[in-house]
Amino acid sequence: MVAGVSTRGPSVSSRPLALVTGASSGIGLEFARILAADGYDCALVARSHDRLEFMAADLREKHGVATTCITADLTLDGSIDEVFAAVPRCDLLVNNAGFANNGPYAELPETDIADEIRLNVLALARLTRRYLPGMLAARSGGIINVASTAAFLPGPLMATYYASKAFVLSLSEALWEEMRGTGVTVSCLCPGATKTAFFTRAKMEGTPLLSMQPLADATMVARAGYEGWKRGKRVVVPGVLNAALAFSPRITPRAMLLRISRRLVER
Ligand SMILES: NC(=O)c1ccc[n+]([C@@H]2O[C@H](COP(=O)([O-])OP(=O)(O)OC[C@H]3O[C@@H](n4cnc5c(N)ncnc54)[C@H](OP(=O)(O)O)[C@@H]3O)[C@@H](O)[C@H]2O)c1
Repeated sequence: MVAGVSTRGPSVSSRPLALVTGASSGIGLEFARILAADGYDCALVARSHDRLEFMAADLREKHGVATTCITADLTLDGSIDEVFAAVPRCDLLVNNAGFANNGPYAELPETDIADEIRLNVLALARLTRRYLPGMLAARSGGIINVASTAAFLPGPLMATYYASKAFVLSLSEALWEEMRGTGVTVSCLCPGATKTAFFTRAKMEGTPLLSMQPLADATMVARAGYEGWKRGKRVVVPGVLNAALAFSPRITPRAMLLRISRRLVER
């Protein structure tokens, strides 16, 4: 369960509080940097305790904000309760933690598929449910859910990942509408391929997806998500090529789309 919670920095604060999952690397780390620079105290969640503490010390030193590090595996039962116990309210929730399995569905370990759904779908849905009431009571704040351009189409050989991101997009768009007039905004950030540890972790080096375009910069992606959320955007797809990619499933025959989607991740 939660291996540790540590809070440091100014104790009395009038600053807003952002909770970022998957803040130990990649897009989540860049979100934390951008939010701290913009005056948010930060609660950082991930499994890598040392990376979180290192990151938090850097945010305190550079921006004078308070930080809370929550070392937690969000696939585990009870982890959501423990995160919420450590941080019972936040002004901005960034549901960013996620990972992908890659390979034929029938050959993947069932536990890996379950963990992917627990993290990408269940943890995100439950954290959203926990924090929304406080935001609604305050009539401010909101949530940035990190999906992917994978949300717009099915993904053979990454079937669970694409399906999980379709869930994130659908949930987020529905909540964006539910939040209308409440002062709370739920946005969905849909990045294309971005330079982070994601592809190494998914064992996807050498796939056509990675060679067809330069990878986006994680700072740029996080900034687009934050700026889009501040403007009340429902869906943010950073980059013109990615925006075209996100639109193309609407006009491409489904069978052709599935073959293209498969080839992009096939070795
Ligand atoms: N990179 C891309 O091309 C891309 C494109 C579209 C969407 N995305 C999405 O962007 C989000 C961030 O990914 P990234 O690209 O920044 O990859 P990343 O560098 O691998 O970051 C993933 C983050 O999630 C955390 N995490 C993983 N498993 C966890 C668990 N069980 N419990 C708690 N935290 C966990 C990791 O920290 P620990 O290992 O320390 O737990 C890490 O901080 C993901 O939702 C991903 O699907 C990425």
